Amino acid sequence: MQEVIKIEGGKKLKGEVKISGSKNATVALIPAAVLANGPVYISGVPEIADVTSLAEILRILNVDVTEKEDMLIVDPTNMKNIDLDQDVVTRLRASYYFMGALLGKYGYVRIKMPGGCYLGPRPIDLHIKGFEALGAKVEYDRGCYTIQASHLKGNKIFLDISSVGATINIMMAAVYAEGKTTIENAAKEPEIIDVATLLNNMGANVKGAGTNVITIEGVSTLHGCAHEIIPDRIEAGTFLIMAAACAEEMKINNVIPKHIEALTSKLQEMGVKLEIGVDSITVYESDEIHGVDVTTKPYPGFATDLQQPLTALMTRATGESHVVDTIYSERFKNCQELQRMGAKIEIGQGSCTIDGPTQLYGDKVVATDLRCGACLVIAGLMAEGITEIRDVHHIDRGYDDIDGKLKRLGARIYREMID
Ligand code: EPU
Repeated sequence: MQEVIKIEGGKKLKGEVKISGSKNATVALIPAAVLANGPVYISGVPEIADVTSLAEILRILNVDVTEKEDMLIVDPTNMKNIDLDQDVVTRLRASYYFMGALLGKYGYVRIKMPGGCYLGPRPIDLHIKGFEALGAKVEYDRGCYTIQASHLKGNKIFLDISSVGATINIMMAAVYAEGKTTIENAAKEPEIIDVATLLNNMGANVKGAGTNVITIEGVSTLHGCAHEIIPDRIEAGTFLIMAAACAEEMKINNVIPKHIEALTSKLQEMGVKLEIGVDSITVYESDEIHGVDVTTKPYPGFATDLQQPLTALMTRATGESHVVDTIYSERFKNCQELQRMGAKIEIGQGSCTIDGPTQLYGDKVVATDLRCGACLVIAGLMAEGITEIRDVHHIDRGYDDIDGKLKRLGARIYREMID
């Protein structure tokens, strides 16, 4: 038996939607909280499976976890540094943030290889390079990393690629290290600023987050604090694309428009009518939209996480659209599923070309990864007939109540158990 999402397409969406807290910030903030020596109150936590998995890992570490509506209280007062060789670690990518957090706090961590979506090769060599630069010894055996240091000492680390994960992991490993750590060519994503804000509220000394040079002056202790998570720019982007694809009018609330400028300007280039407010964006129905070219880049460039959802909209656009993903070469599994639904797509090496406009038709499709799932939900809403999406656990890892939000906007979406 497995759960599927079914969508009866062709219904115009209308109304308002509130965006949840950022998944990719949350999955770093939760491990970061264990660096404190008192309770950390994180609010705006999205209800997603990745958070459930991280809470499970916290409980293995004897961390007290309390959920109160959208607040998670993480109290590491009685924490124990237990080896993380359980299967739950492989359920998500972000479990690797326990590397930096536990190394920073205890000078020792043993943890299984992380999991997450397959998007092409996703090495963690830069995380390791950072830990080693701080004085740690890293070993890999029987599917587990053992990272240890008798004494962590600040150093200068140049990242060959501006990796989000490596930047956050090194920040966490360095908060207690002796002296100053400098991360050069650091990633600049808003989620990094959010993690640095939490660390600083806990008493750390992190400067420059959001620029490509971050410095961390080691401190001797960190205390508990309260933190509100930033809105999810990828969820906001997904709803924007959805609105452009099939809404009469949709107001998207709890957005930081600056965080998705690369998308809003691309949508405007396509001919989508948008009204950008202070913390909301309204999308109006447009008669005709045009094909565009998109190349994904690290922030503030066009987010790789939004190129798959955008391909669904591109099938409705007049003319040719071309997508190049410079971050993940194999993030195009959604294109095969769209082809099944009638899209005209040519899949290249790290790229795809879409010829539109074409009408999509409901079919049985597979959410091979999280953002492929988002793409298929959008395609299902646009399609004629019923779309059945399998492997929906990928969608539930990252989208908070996607069905409920869509139902309130008038979509015909429901879940069923099938053999
Ligand atoms: N890379 C390396 N070596 C490393 C680390 C990264 O070569 O040690 C490469 C990667 O293979 C990739 C590029 O550097 O080509 C960027 O990877 P990055 O480390 O920035 O990605 P990540 O931290 O693993 C996060 C998000 C992803 C998002 C990317 C890029 C989380 C948990 N994941 O991944 O989100 O696509 O940044 O913005 O924050 C998603 O939400 O669907 C998702 C996959």
